[in-house]
Amino acid sequence: MALGLAISAQAADISLTVDPYAGTDTISRMVYGQFAEHLGACVYEGIWVGEDSPIPNTKGYRNDALEALRELKVPVLRWPGGCFADDYHWRDGIGDPAKRPTLINNNWGGTQEDNSFGTHEFFNLCEMLGIEPYLSVNIGSGAVQEAAQWIEYVTAPNGPMAAERAANGRREPWKLKYVGIGNESWGCGGSMRPEYYSDVYRRYSTYMRNQPGNTLYRIASGASDYDYNWTTVLMDRVGAGRMDGLSLHYYTVEDWSNKGTSTGFDDDKYYSTLGKALEIDTVIRRHIAIMDEKDPKAHVGLMVDEWGTWYDEEPGTTPGHLFQQNTMRDAMVAALTLDIFHRYSERVRMANIAQIANVLQAMWLTKGEKFLLTPTYHVFRMYLPHQDAVNIPLDIKAPVFKAANGRPVVEFDATASRAADGSVSITLVNPMLKESDKVAIDLPGIKGLDIERAEILTASAPQAMNTFEKPDAVAPAPFKDVKAKGSHLDAKLPPLSIVTITLRPRK
Ligand code: AHR
Repeated sequence: MALGLAISAQAADISLTVDPYAGTDTISRMVYGQFAEHLGACVYEGIWVGEDSPIPNTKGYRNDALEALRELKVPVLRWPGGCFADDYHWRDGIGDPAKRPTLINNNWGGTQEDNSFGTHEFFNLCEMLGIEPYLSVNIGSGAVQEAAQWIEYVTAPNGPMAAERAANGRREPWKLKYVGIGNESWGCGGSMRPEYYSDVYRRYSTYMRNQPGNTLYRIASGASDYDYNWTTVLMDRVGAGRMDGLSLHYYTVEDWSNKGTSTGFDDDKYYSTLGKALEIDTVIRRHIAIMDEKDPKAHVGLMVDEWGTWYDEEPGTTPGHLFQQNTMRDAMVAALTLDIFHRYSERVRMANIAQIANVLQAMWLTKGEKFLLTPTYHVFRMYLPHQDAVNIPLDIKAPVFKAANGRPVVEFDATASRAADGSVSITLVNPMLKESDKVAIDLPGIKGLDIERAEILTASAPQAMNTFEKPDAVAPAPFKDVKAKGSHLDAKLPPLSIVTITLRPRK
């Protein structure tokens, strides 16, 4: 398989071979995971408004959020943090909501919370929507007994924790697979050294017990981007026998002291942002190389449980709430990053974009009852056919140029997969702001094909976004510039566009 590409001033001719029967690694749907932290308006207002709210809701969850969660087929939801997790004491969030104590969210703006969203509200939401819960337990400011009892409260079929759960209205245990033992334990989760954290992990994980019918998948708090030493020490001192997953956090931020705004950027900054986002490829590859050496059978999954863009907060919003707008630039970051996760599907078993609502690279934004879906949401929706499909390896030899920050940016990208029903989905990404792409795709070994669906997400400028006044300014549309002839496809991609074509091969 080969991809040849020649760039002219205004159009690139691209040839791409997609073998519909190639590939062995499944793209876990878990890489389409989400993250909901008690941070700003993510949980409170973004998801949870309470039953008495004038905002239309079902049992306290806002209806528009429920619809979006359903449409995205969210596979896994990480909660309650983030940094918040290592400050959270779960007993404050159970029982009669009127009697729950308030808390001050010390990590995020000192906001007062009423604990009305707690364990029952989280697990009921996941159960209602068929989402795998991913619980992050407090090892920073909590205690082993507290963490152990939380797991027991959620999963035990009987015993004292089960009795307490039943007294609070839930007799049957919930299902819980994914448990994160601490979060950013090198920073907000306890400022630990990897050697010390390894022992803390070993201690806590001993008491995170499986229950009849419920087996945990234990995830260790992993490195921040380029901290390869953290991964090395954890693989050596904890090892494949004691952990199932090791996390990695990678944010698209060029300069933490000057992150830039989410909407006010020029072309140079646009490409620099893509360059930084694409660097996750190198970062993942290097962490995987360490894991491969120490765990050649690939028992331990690399869980990229926080990723996405992080800009300065929108002026006029509450400091510490990390509210930012979301543009076509973010859509492009999402598409290019998901393509990378697909390529590492053998080891990358989960990823959770930060965060689902109103925080960082969100799927939706709210303002009271107003609600909008972001361009990033639309990318996740367009990539749905790739969930749990077999990754079809592509040999992409696209030209690469250096952005203003010196980081390489690809001029074209693509990903392809084969679903269980035999359909093939191909996503084509043109990040260039001026050049369009003429793409010629060959599918060897078939007699013909039928296009089942073709969609495009594009805009005239990377700053394009959805606002409460114009919530559908950026939205997918049917893609018409694609033609099938025998086992061949011809497509024309405008600048700044993401296209997904789902087709059915005829043998
Ligand atoms: O997603 C926001 C914060 O970023 C999380 O709480 C923390 O884990 C990370 O530093």
